[in-house]
Amino acid sequence: MRVLVTGCAGFIASRVCALLLEAGHRVYGVDNLNDAYDVRLKNWRLQQLTIHENFDYEELDISESSFLDTGIDQLKLGKSPGLDGVINLAARAGVRYSTVDPWTYYSTNVIGTLNLLEFCRKYDVPKFVLASTSSVYGNGDVPFHEQQRTDFVLSPYAASKKAAEVLVSTYSSLYSLNTCILRYFTVYGPAGRPDMSVFRFIRAIYEGDAITLYGDGSQKRDFTYVDDVAKGTILALGQKGTGIINLGNDNPTSVNDLIAIVERCLGKQAIIDKEAPHPADVDSTWARIDTAKSQLGWTPKVGLSDGVAIAAEWYLANRDWANSIG
Ligand SMILES: NC(=O)c1ccc[n+]([C@@H]2O[C@H](COP(=O)([O-])OP(=O)(O)OC[C@H]3O[C@@H](n4cnc5c(N)ncnc54)[C@H](O)[C@@H]3O)[C@@H](O)[C@H]2O)c1
Repeated sequence: MRVLVTGCAGFIASRVCALLLEAGHRVYGVDNLNDAYDVRLKNWRLQQLTIHENFDYEELDISESSFLDTGIDQLKLGKSPGLDGVINLAARAGVRYSTVDPWTYYSTNVIGTLNLLEFCRKYDVPKFVLASTSSVYGNGDVPFHEQQRTDFVLSPYAASKKAAEVLVSTYSSLYSLNTCILRYFTVYGPAGRPDMSVFRFIRAIYEGDAITLYGDGSQKRDFTYVDDVAKGTILALGQKGTGIINLGNDNPTSVNDLIAIVERCLGKQAIIDKEAPHPADVDSTWARIDTAKSQLGWTPKVGLSDGVAIAAEWYLANRDWANSIG
């Protein structure tokens, strides 16, 4: 396959690209390398990809309207690119910061998605996969299933993803585009996002720094290992038709239990600074994964303790620079 992957220097997309390349596919990656978090981490992930001869990279912003024309030229795809699919993982992610700068979230997550859908239409790309999020379920009843209402979200981030989902459904019905909306649940693993709990806790506990805990730690997340999510994303690319699919671990764990797992893994005790719960954070997430099982033949393989151990191993191997990532 020939696949365009957006956000390729990002945490999840870099693993999607790596697995596609390992399977012998040709990957065109774009990213705008923004400074939402330390760009050294994005460059480190890119370096792992650029060693593959089947990987082409361009620094491009999907929210620019010029993406449709000059983007294509820069990627040297030609006027009929012959792509088998687009996987849109580029996004402003992170729930809390979306309450500070909702505009940036909207321009990438909504306008960026619109540009890519137009790109699929203009260049006859048969398949579009969108990375969406469990945040669209808000504080709905757990476990979350795909037919549940998603109208009551708690953050501009979740609202932007909901808007992107609706755009995807619209293009699906208007232009018979095969689409898949994947709702990911708290993804973690090596070279993970530094604003997320697993990375933050490993770094701070190992270095003897305090960790900030929002609320009392009883809130639960359905932590899902990055390669499981990347594999599910590639399976979704191969599916015809349209659909919405949860990719979660179906095994929610409290943040307190996560801290205990990291402590055990590192043999060190956490110093905890408690803060009030953030109003944009949901209480609990938990994925029902019957659809992923039946439609993709997908089940998560890596349990939380094993996944945390792999993430910690990565941190220790890269500590000389990763320890200064906030
Ligand atoms: N990590 C999770 O737990 C999680 C959970 C649910 C959904 N998601 C979704 O999965 C996707 C990937 O998330 P991630 O955790 O890897 O985040 P990430 O921030 O590591 O990756 C996103 C990448 O997109 C790039 N990007 C942002 N705006 C762009 C633009 N306008 N043009 C081009 N590139 C741009 C960033 O530079 C970054 O490299 C996102 O769509 C996110 O919303 C992630």
